[in-house]
Amino acid sequence: MKGLIYVVGIGPGDFDYACNKAISALGNSDIIVGYKTYIELVKPHFENKNFLSSAMKKEVDRCLEVLKLAEQGKTVSLISSGDPGIYGMAGIMIEIVAAHNSDVQVEVIPGISASASAASLLGAPLMNDFAVISLSNLLTPWETIEKRLHALAQADFVISVYNPKSKTRTDPFYNAIEILLKYKDPKTPVGIVRNAMRENQEIEITDLANLKDAEVNMFTTLIIGNSNTDIVNGKMVAIRGYKL
Ligand SMILES: C[S@@+](CC[C@H](N)C(=O)[O-])C[C@H]1O[C@@H](n2cnc3c(N)ncnc32)[C@H](O)[C@@H]1O
Repeated sequence: MKGLIYVVGIGPGDFDYACNKAISALGNSDIIVGYKTYIELVKPHFENKNFLSSAMKKEVDRCLEVLKLAEQGKTVSLISSGDPGIYGMAGIMIEIVAAHNSDVQVEVIPGISASASAASLLGAPLMNDFAVISLSNLLTPWETIEKRLHALAQADFVISVYNPKSKTRTDPFYNAIEILLKYKDPKTPVGIVRNAMRENQEIEITDLANLKDAEVNMFTTLIIGNSNTDIVNGKMVAIRGYKL
């Protein structure tokens, strides 16, 4: 008998922010597979489960292992932080099952993505049209990212930025700020959330002119305002134009 693959979004970190369906899928699984940091986040809640943790950048190997276990008849949960369909493991898992002509079923279970968790901590900065972009040029060429940044800034979107800067990949961050400043006011509010709903959570509001000096790493989500973003009672808000 074939097994089943759940690709589960565990939310930003604190398990209070995982949805009930994610919790029941993990509870019904024979084995939970994921990047080691995320395994550590769920382990305390499922002490009697089998876990298989793997290293970062081993996404293909991780999915092949999941497929192998499911082909043996196991129910396997593959976990992603936030939502698995947003820069997570859902797409690659579906592709690998198809590439192996397997008829194992894949069920994707959504989670609270970093944009939503960061926004809630900052106030309400995504109340109007917004876009999401990753600054990682590992899988997307920088020329494409650059083109998208120009288009988003020109169209006055609020922009949520994932993978903003790593220890070795710093240029995209500074280049992105330069592009955004071509179209956006230097005083545009920018929300910086590090480790949302996790240990060492930090929330900061700065502006586009000062963003280059802020502490930004791979556990950070940035929310860059638009021309209608304001600071209201210390919170970052996208003003929609309600008559008050
Ligand atoms: C590969 S993406 C994964 C996104 C994830 N699937 C989601 O929906 O949130 C990793 C990036 O998400 C953002 N991120 C994920 N969890 C976060 C958290 N708890 N706090 C702040 N940013 C986070 C960071 O920008 C990080 O570099």
